[in-house]
Parts: sequence; C-alpha cells; structure tokens
Amino acid sequence: MKVLVTGGAGFIGSHTVDLLLKKGYEVRVYDSLEPPVHPRRGKPAYVPDEVEFISGDICDSSKLGKALQGIDVVFHFAAYQDYLPDFSKFAFINDGGTALLYELIVNHHLPVQKVILASSQAVYGEGKYECSNHGGQYPSLRPLAQLMNRDWEIRCPICQQSMKPVATDESQTNPHNQYAVSKCAQELYALILGKRYDIPTVAMRYTIIQGPRQSFFNAYSGILRIFSVCLLHDLPLPIYEDGQQLREYVYVGDAARANVLVMEKEEANYQVFNVGGSRAFSVLEYARILLDLMGKDIELNLSGEFRFGDTRHIISDMSKLQKLGWEPTTSVKQIVREYLDWIQTQPEISNHYAQAAEKMKQMGIIRKAT
Ligand SMILES: NC(=O)c1ccc[n+]([C@@H]2O[C@H](COP(=O)([O-])OP(=O)(O)OC[C@H]3O[C@@H](n4cnc5c(N)ncnc54)[C@H](O)[C@@H]3O)[C@@H](O)[C@H]2O)c1
Repeated sequence: MKVLVTGGAGFIGSHTVDLLLKKGYEVRVYDSLEPPVHPRRGKPAYVPDEVEFISGDICDSSKLGKALQGIDVVFHFAAYQDYLPDFSKFAFINDGGTALLYELIVNHHLPVQKVILASSQAVYGEGKYECSNHGGQYPSLRPLAQLMNRDWEIRCPICQQSMKPVATDESQTNPHNQYAVSKCAQELYALILGKRYDIPTVAMRYTIIQGPRQSFFNAYSGILRIFSVCLLHDLPLPIYEDGQQLREYVYVGDAARANVLVMEKEEANYQVFNVGGSRAFSVLEYARILLDLMGKDIELNLSGEFRFGDTRHIISDMSKLQKLGWEPTTSVKQIVREYLDWIQTQPEISNHYAQAAEKMKQMGIIRKAT
C-alpha cells in the first residue's frame, strides 16, 4: 500500500512517515519546504532515504496531480499556520489546497481509498463551558475591553457570571480566528466531498502536539519551543494573561499512532476525532516543569501582556478516539525532556521569538492590559 504524506517534511508529518515505514507501508512525501520551518528550503536530514520525496506546493495542480499517481491513502498535513492577519493566505493554501486534492482525485478517477486530514482543536474557539445558572455554553471571543481590564475569565453570555471550562467533544465548532476558520472549511471540503464521491475521509482535531523536530524557527506559537529557546538564552518567559490558561499537550509519537490507527480502522471513516492529552496543565504549571528540567531558577513574571484572539482554556473530550483504541502514553515531563535533548543537538538556536513578538506587537496581536 502506498501512502502520500503532504507536509511530510514537517513536524507531525515526518513522525507519521516514520511510523508508516516501520509498519511496512511505502511512503511518498509532497512538501514545498516552506520557511520559517525550513529556513534553507532544503530537505531535512530526518526524511528517510527510502521515502520518495517530491518538492511541490499544495496549490500546484500539475505537481500535486503527479504526486497522487499510484497512491492508495493520503495524509494531508501541509498547511499555513501563522498568527498574522494575512487572512487570504489561510484560505488559499488550507482551503484551496484541500479542495484541489479532492478535485484531482475525482476528475482523474484516482483510486485513492482514504484521506486523513490534519485539522485542529482551534475549530472549537473557546470550547465548552458550564455556567452554574445556565448550563453548557459555547462562548464567543473575549472582548478587547474585557482583556484590557485584566478580566481574563470567560463569562456566561446570559448572566455574565464566570464559567468553568469542561471537556469539549466533537459535536460543535465555533472558530474565532482565520486559522480556525480555514481548518473548519478544510474539514467541510474533505468530509462533504469525501462522502459525495465515496472517498473515505477522517479529520483529526489535534490539540497542542509536541516533540523533537518541532521547528523553533517558527516562533509565532508553540509554548515548548518558545519557552525553551527563551530559557536557553536566559531570557524571561513571555507568559500572557495570568498564566492560568489551561491546555493539554500530546507527544508527537502518540499523535502519529492516532493517525495510523484511523487509517487502518474502517470504523473511523467519515468521522472527526479529538486528539488530546491525558490532563490539562496551566501555563504556569507548564513553565515550572520546564524550569525544573532545565535546572533554572528564575522568577515567573506576569507582564499583563495578552494576545488578542487567544483561547482562555481548552480541554478535549477524548472518549471517541479512546473507544477506537488510542490513549496518549507519554507524560508532559517526558515530552519536555525529549525536546530539550533534541534542541540542544541543533546547530543554531537563535531567539526567533523576539522578532516574532515585535511583529505581533506592531500588528496589535500582543497587547498590554492597563
Ligand atoms: N503542531 C500542532 O500542535 C498542530 C495542532 C493542530 C493542528 N495541526 C495541523 O497539523 C498539520 C501539521 O502541522 P505541523 O505542526 O507538523 O506543521 P509543520 O509546519 O511542522 O509542517 C508543515 C509542513 O507542510 C509544508 N507546507 C506548508 N505549506 C505548504 C504548501 N503550500 N505546499 C506544500 N507543503 C507545504 C511545510 O514545508 C512543512 O514541512 C497542519 O495542518 C496543522 O495545521 C498541528
């Protein structure tokens, strides 16, 4: 069986490629080696020799059409995932690329048996909350005026009381930014066209995936890469809001197992799955784990800065993927330890965060509360 992995030179894609090879599948990678993840635009050394590598853009119809020849299964990871207000780029690459993939399969009668799409927990926006007066709620983005007042928690849209986050299942989406909208649209293209043309399709809504090869050249997001690079340069950690935001973290090897599982299981067809961690950690708790493992003793300062559009808390309900036979097995400590071992073997660990933060400030994404 031959598998095409778009974005297979990237982080989740490359770990999925490794597992596919280990399980005896033939693999072809299609990737345009985009900066900042690939600053020299060369094929990374970790792409194994037995992989057939095709360099090309997901929006290049002719090259993608060639890459799809002789393919049984497609993993679609290639995506634009910045934090900047270049809204149309998200739509062109993420949604245009996904629509093109199905267009080529359908128009050329290609015998692709399954497509697995990389979606994101971002499609939930703030996710699900429980109000003690009004029950389950799917709140909107916190207004700028609320955040400027250091009023961080999510309030009930009916009674304005502060609410508790609860595990969010796959039933309802509520995207709040351009990336999340593009991921929702990608899912719609994939699942609707898949169903319409009998191409079994699965969408994976990953939470924060972490591990070696997560490029530190892209410093717009990613707590582990940003915090560890700052600490390696003895710089203070950029902790937004009050550091109490809840997030889950999943080891990239566990995510790769989830990917291959849904590929192999027919019951997964036309389904959407959350891929979440074993429990939620606050940003401060996460920072302390990192400080401890790096042997650093610095004070954690809250500057009052926040990123407008960030989610306050988000926790995934994992029961659907668990029923299919998957569990996350790697602890956050193990993930951080492995990332630190990896990053210290890298030839050039410049502080790309400083530049990214400056750009986000100029664009009004990072702001300071009064
Ligand atoms: N890493 C996470 O925590 C996370 C969380 C949720 C969703 N996702 C999704 O998972 C997928 C993979 O994410 P990742 O963290 O491995 O990203 P990554 O940036 O490490 O890898 C993406 C790869 O896609 C390639 N690529 C980008 N644009 C392309 C284009 N136009 N044509 C061809 N190739 C292109 C890049 O060169 C890169 O090798 C993405 O779709 C992302 O939205 C990731």
